Amino acid sequence: MITIKNEEEIELMRHAGMLVSKTHKYLKPFIKEGITTKELDKLAEKFMRDNDGVPTQIGYEGYPCATCISVNDTVVHGIPTDYKLKNGDIVTIDMVIGYKGYQGDAAWTYKVGDVDAYKEYLMKHTKAALYEGVKQVKPGNRIGDISNAVQTYAESHNLGVVRELCGHGIGTEMHEDPDVPNYGIKGVGPRLKEGMVICIEPMLTFGKRDIYVLDDGWTIKTQDGKPSAHYEHTILVTKDGYEILTPRLEEDD
Ligand code: MF3
Ligand code: CO
Repeated sequence: MITIKNEEEIELMRHAGMLVSKTHKYLKPFIKEGITTKELDKLAEKFMRDNDGVPTQIGYEGYPCATCISVNDTVVHGIPTDYKLKNGDIVTIDMVIGYKGYQGDAAWTYKVGDVDAYKEYLMKHTKAALYEGVKQVKPGNRIGDISNAVQTYAESHNLGVVRELCGHGIGTEMHEDPDVPNYGIKGVGPRLKEGMVICIEPMLTFGKRDIYVLDDGWTIKTQDGKPSAHYEHTILVTKDGYEILTPRLEEDD
């Protein structure tokens, strides 16, 4: 069932989304060579709690941490570890924060120091694929319009679209109906209505789109070892378009 949020609920989701945005902004200066992904996670968790946010991911289907931190060939759901970030890595930080029961969810891929041009290409076009999807959000359009826009953009830039994972509705639960795939056919799927809230989150690869799951049951990597990027926003369907509930609070470098 796809829920429609009322004004009061939307206000709480705005607040949750803004906490996600603020946590990303807070973390960014720490994303440097030498910091471990576990240290980044702990900083994020403390910031969330200090700002009355609930780190919803902790305990979600047994997931142990407040954030997912996915480096290079890790596509998503990287569990924070003692790995120290290195110059040239790209690192995706993904998090869900609850506020008074309502959730916000956003992922962003960051550079560590100077990265190779092909990683810059992957990042730039994965981010652009997200915004191609976002532009399709308005009442009357269908989920397939979003999916098709993301896929068309990604594939025309020779990037692989990971198909096993997708975006989702969000509200009091981090994952609600509908699924929002990153590939699909225009004009197909549930129709968007004012008051729906969805997460769009392309996960694109520089090489083939095939993935595998590590024995930890979470970490998803590319089979060919090539890097992957992942950008996600929480989006409200408004009367005549959309509102990004997890706005970026600063420019990317
Ligand atoms: N934030 C992820 C998403 O975009 C979900 C994380 S799964 C968890 O849907 F188990 F780590 F919480
Ligand atoms: Co999500």
